Amino acid sequence: MVRPKLLITRKLRPAVEGRAARDYDVVLNPEDRVLSDAELIAACRAVDAVLPCHSERFTAEVLDAIGPGLRIIANHSVGTDHVDLEAARKSGVVVTNTPDVLSEATAEIAMLCMLGAARRGAEGDALVRSGAWNFWSPAFMVGRQVSGKRFGIVGMGRVGQVTAERARGFGMQVHYHNRRRLPSHQEKGAVFHDSLESLLAVSDVLSLHCPATPENAGLLNARTLALLPERAIVVNTARGALIDEGALISALSSGRLFAAGLDVFQTEPGGNPDLSRLPNVFLLPHIGSATEETRDAMGFRALDNLDAFFGGQEPQDRVA
Ligand code: DGY
Repeated sequence: MVRPKLLITRKLRPAVEGRAARDYDVVLNPEDRVLSDAELIAACRAVDAVLPCHSERFTAEVLDAIGPGLRIIANHSVGTDHVDLEAARKSGVVVTNTPDVLSEATAEIAMLCMLGAARRGAEGDALVRSGAWNFWSPAFMVGRQVSGKRFGIVGMGRVGQVTAERARGFGMQVHYHNRRRLPSHQEKGAVFHDSLESLLAVSDVLSLHCPATPENAGLLNARTLALLPERAIVVNTARGALIDEGALISALSSGRLFAAGLDVFQTEPGGNPDLSRLPNVFLLPHIGSATEETRDAMGFRALDNLDAFFGGQEPQDRVA
């Protein structure tokens, strides 16, 4: 039987690449860098399937240029904002993602971002490393305690639900806003708010877990940030497009917000130099799902979707 040709756009975990090579005629990107649109188009034209990450952008133009040969985009990501799903539907390309398997890892990073921001993790780390730590007093490097505070979640999908459980473990009262209220067994004891505004008003820590749809772009902006309690903390492990970074920088610089813990940025890689200059931010380079276990599971899940598709079945994680 002729094995399907599969393009893998980035370096994956050895066990994932091994399994892919067993079942597919694999084309690798040996340099593990983001392919330009022209390179992506040329590479995708030569294969039946592609296994990309969120770093590759499948716009309507790119999909149109690739043409009808490509049959499936099996993403190695839960987020699909890098793929124009409507254009994919129109051109008949199946699109899948990797939900569930990264919820725990991402919730852990949300907790790291929260604690790093609340307890001034970046400042403390930099001070010790610099060799300039020569002082201690009860007034030194005092942060905000999270126990007993209110933790607000925007987007109570799988990652939001696991994050709710973790925040409760820190003794926080959890609140959430979602398009629709969840059945009580999925609420994890969190209080539902039917509007974003109502959630913001009670969130000492606000954590974003919703997808970056066009409607959600700039969800946190000058108006909505002003609704948070004084000296609140903002956590973002979802997508940079959800926050107007200029408005966030103003709120952090003025002291209106206590701090922010961010794993994602409007511009990636690189981030925002104006954010990086602030002392009250804790920053990570988009590593929410970056654990050995989760990256294995994401790769295997993407391959499961490919196997189902080429086996004539409906892939379990089909999004278009
Ligand atoms: C995801 O899966 O969407 C993560 O952000 C990593 O790509």
